[in-house]
This record gives sequence, C-alpha cells and structure tokens, in this order.
Amino acid sequence: MPKIAALSALEILDSRGNPTLQVTVRTDEDTNKCLIASASVPSGASTGKFEALELRDKDPSRYQGKGVRKAIENVLGPLAKAVIGQEVSHQKEIDHLLIEADGTKDKSKLGANAILGVSLAVARAAALAVNLPLYRYLGGAAADLLPCPMINIINGGVHADNSLDAQEFLIRPTGAPSFAEAIRWGSEIFYTLKKLLKENGYVTSVGDEGGFSPNLSSTESALDIIVQAIEQAGYQPGNQVSLAMDMAATEFFDANLKKYIEKKKKAAGLPYIERTGQEQTDYLESLCAKYPIDSIEDGLAENDWEGWRIFTERMGKKIQIIGDDIFVTNMEFLKKGIEQGVGNSILIKLNQIGTLTETLECVRMAHSHGFTTVISHRSGETEDSFIADLAVATKAGQIKTGSMCRSERICKYNRLLAIEAELGGAARFTDSNPFRKR
Ligand code: PGA
Ligand code: ZN
Repeated sequence: MPKIAALSALEILDSRGNPTLQVTVRTDEDTNKCLIASASVPSGASTGKFEALELRDKDPSRYQGKGVRKAIENVLGPLAKAVIGQEVSHQKEIDHLLIEADGTKDKSKLGANAILGVSLAVARAAALAVNLPLYRYLGGAAADLLPCPMINIINGGVHADNSLDAQEFLIRPTGAPSFAEAIRWGSEIFYTLKKLLKENGYVTSVGDEGGFSPNLSSTESALDIIVQAIEQAGYQPGNQVSLAMDMAATEFFDANLKKYIEKKKKAAGLPYIERTGQEQTDYLESLCAKYPIDSIEDGLAENDWEGWRIFTERMGKKIQIIGDDIFVTNMEFLKKGIEQGVGNSILIKLNQIGTLTETLECVRMAHSHGFTTVISHRSGETEDSFIADLAVATKAGQIKTGSMCRSERICKYNRLLAIEAELGGAARFTDSNPFRKR
C-alpha cells in the first residue's frame, strides 16, 4: 500500500468567492507510479457555535481577513510532519495523528479546514490505490443506496438578501422510482416555480444554495407557491413530493429574551412577530398540519435544548426532526440529544467536526440509535463532490446539496447520477425518512 510522501495546499475560492483550501496528497512510488489526490473544503454561513474552528488569517489586507494562508502553512508544516510515511489506507490512524498534532478540542490550533482537507485527500488517494470508486472504497460492497435529494428551491435567512427568515424551503421527491427520476422531477418543479414567481412579479435571482430568493411576505406564502409549483409540474404534493424546511432558528433566536423574532421584517421596519419557545413549537406544528412537510431542521435554536425536547416530544413520531447547529456532527452533542429525547435525525457536515473518521463514527452512532442521517453540503461550496460518495458509502438515504442550478451544487447531483448508472441494476433508491408522506 502506498505511503504519504508529500502534502501540498492551495488557496482557492469557494462558491461565494471566499478563500478556502484545496489539499493534495502525493504518495511514494508504489509499483512505479505515485498517486495524486486532492480535496477541497467547504464553508458555512449559519454556523453552529460548537463547530470545529475554521482557521482564517484575520489579515485585513487580504480578502477582508478571510485568507487561509495560515491553514495552508499548517498543512505544509505540522500536519505533513504528522502523516508523512503513513500508509494511505490507514484513515483512522492518520485522522488520529492529525487530531493529535492539533491537540485542541475544537481543532483551533491548526484549523479544522486544514485538517479536513488532508483527511479527505488521504481517503481519495487510498481509493485510487486500490482502484475503487470512492463510495465503494468507503462503503464496501454493500454501498448500493442512492440518497433521496432534499432540494432547496427557495433560499432565505442568511443565504439570501430577501424578506424570508426561514433559511431553506426544500422539496423531497420521495415517490420517484430512481435517483435520476428524482432529479428530473426536482428540475421540472424548480423551473415551474421560476415561471410562477415571474408571473406573480417576483425576482428569480438565486441565493447562496441556488434556490430562488424572492421577497415573499411570509413563510406560508413561500410554501403555498411551492405546493402550486409541484402541482403545476404534474406531481402530487405529499404523496410524490413532500416538503421540508431548515428554519436555521439559531439565527433569529434572541437568547436574552428567549424569543424567536422575525428579524428581517423587524429590520425593515415592518410589523413582525416574536415567539416564545412554546409559540415557536406551536407554529411549526401548525405549518406541518397545513402543508405536506415531513422534515424540519433546526426549528429551534442550538441553545434551546428544552424547546427541542418539547418539540420532539410533540412531533417526533410524525416528522423527521433534524439537528444541525445543535449537534454539529459531534458525537458528544448527539449522545446528549439521544439521551434527552432531542431530535430523531442528524445533519452530517464533514467540516463541522473536521475529519472523515469522526464523521463516519457520528453517522454510525446515529444509525445505531435509530436516528436518520442527512449528508449535507455547506452554503459555501466548491466543485468537490466528496459528499455524494459519502452519502452512498454510509447508506444515509438522504442528501442535502442545494437547488437545481449552480455547479457547486449540481456537481454532487451529477456525481450521484454517475454512481447510480455505474451500479446499474444493483442501485437502490429509497428515502430513509420513516415519516415520509405516502
Ligand atoms: P450553512 O447552511 O452551510 O450556512 O451552515 C447550511 C445549513 O444550515 O444546513
Ligand atoms: Zn441547517
């Protein structure tokens, strides 16, 4: 098995035009050839407080302080020193060495972005070494399940400069017979929605994750027009295509007042609503009663554990309740959630924790406790499609990777289309959300 001979790293740009890292692993000469594999690191905007640290230079003279030269130095220096000479297939040991080289709990010394870049590039090199596609290398012969896409067709919150406080309005083509058909349905609904928005006088520009970002007056008006788009495209809302939301409620929770505040309306001087935790739960429940919603992510804030517990008690047998900011792909928080009856599903983001091994362990813990997992992109993405392979390898059954435009989103869908084609008759497509509408 080839060994790591060198690491290199490049400051590249993500989909928002902010700097991030691309890390490359080169192996020693094994059977006369050296292998070269790269991975790029994504970056979030509505980040959880307890995510592993994304190291930025904070040098105001470059990229408004967002440069990642220090992270690159850390790849070339301490991280390279820690892993050079290791066999690329020893992912767990390598990740452990990376964690050890950093030595902090939140990877703040060397940067989770630097560490993750190395971790993912190593996995790619190892897959190359044994001549296997990444999903097969990571997931073995059993990796045959294509994920149901959660397609984010209207963007709000911090991902769009519009009036919507809820961050993501997603469609789930659960009734599609294959991944390729799910993508076709999604695309048709996306373009029907575009037409409807236009007809109703709204702009059809898109937000950070490729969903439209119209100035709709409320969450309900966004859900109404999506239901209309599903119907006009020729599909049945609920039965064939259900709805999901990521409220990203941490962004509009006032921890001092303990209230959920319609921030954007407030800032615009418009009438706005403030909700207590109880009222926010009632509100989410009323949305689920009115619309065919079968999944809600971050309906409550990351520091409102009691609100989460009550919401899960009330709705946890009816819909998928996904924890993103509250769990941050961290087994410690997930364990607390499992013990306290908080959520029934976890969003999985590689860069929230910072190594592939910890990510895989978190998925395993979730599955073994009956939690579903949704593999996720970040709002700042690159053309790297690692998460597509990860979704198949872990049999997560669901992926969240944006809308039906913008290549940093589409490349993940395209990779999944290729995997489905490659698997041929062995490919399975089943939505893992047990509460899906039928
Ligand atoms: P982020 O958004 O990458 O900006 O955190 C994605 C999400 O909240 O799910
Ligand atoms: Zn989220």
